[in-house]
Amino acid sequence: MILTGAGISKESGLDTFRCEDGIWSRVSLEDVATPEGFARNPRLVHEFYNARRSKLCDPEIAPNAAHLALARLEQEWPGDVFLVTQNIDDLHERAGNRNLLHMHGELKKIRCDACDAHMEWVDELGVEHGCPQCHVVGRLRPHVVWFGEMPIGMDRIYEALDRCTLFMSIGTSGHVYPAAGFVSHVRMYTRAHTVELNMEPSNGATLFAETIYGPATEVVPAYIEALLSRPR
Ligand code: APR
Repeated sequence: MILTGAGISKESGLDTFRCEDGIWSRVSLEDVATPEGFARNPRLVHEFYNARRSKLCDPEIAPNAAHLALARLEQEWPGDVFLVTQNIDDLHERAGNRNLLHMHGELKKIRCDACDAHMEWVDELGVEHGCPQCHVVGRLRPHVVWFGEMPIGMDRIYEALDRCTLFMSIGTSGHVYPAAGFVSHVRMYTRAHTVELNMEPSNGATLFAETIYGPATEVVPAYIEALLSRPR
C-alpha cells in the first residue's frame, strides 16, 4: 500500500502546498479550497483551478523517475500494489499505475452540483458554463475534495490498510487527515512494515519503522529497486 503526496510531483514541476514557496504561502486555502470559499467567490476558485489545470496540461509536465518506479512496482511485484494519492494531478496514471485511487479528487475532472454528473474536463471552467448533462448553468465545480469535505474511497482505503503488509508514504508532510492517520492505523491493526520516503521528516515521521530522506526521484527508484531485487 502506497500513499503519495505533492512531494512526488515536485520534480515534475508542480508545486507542493506547505513548502516555503508552496501554494498555501501564496493563496489562502480558506478562499480556494473550502465549500464556503467557493460559495463566496466561485470566480476566484475557478481561476485557481483553471491555472493549475492548464499547468498540468503543459507538455513539459511529465511523470518523473519516482512515478515511473511506482508503476514498475505495480507491474513487477508478485502481490497487489494499491496506490492512494492525495494528488489531483494525473502523473501516476500517465506513468502507468492502474490500481490507483485519488482520495482528494482529480484536476482533469469536474462535476455538476445540480445533477451529480461527473466528466473529464481539460479546458477553463467558469460560472457561465452549463452542465452538458442537465444544462443547469453555474453549478459545475472542480472534482476535488475541499477542506471540510469527505475524501473519496475511504471504505476501500481502510480495507486495504487493514490487510497490507507494507505501507509506504511518499512526499507528504503528514498535516492533513485522514491520510496523515494511515500510518497509525497500519501500526495499530497490522504487522506491516512502515516506511516514509520524503525530502525531510514529516509531521508523523516518528511513527514509521523506517525513514529515508532525499528527493523523490532518487530515493523512490532506489527503494523500489532494492525491494524488487530482494530474495523472496
Ligand atoms: N521529493 C520528496 N519529497 C519532497 C520533495 C521532493 N522533491 N519536495 C518536497 N517534498 C516534501 C516536503 O518536504 C513535504 O514534506 O513533500 C511534502 C509535501 O507536503 P505538502 O505540501 O503538505 O503536500 P501534501 O502532504 O500532499 O498535502 C496534503 O494538503 O492542501 C492539501 O489537498 C492538499 O492533497 C493536499 C494535502
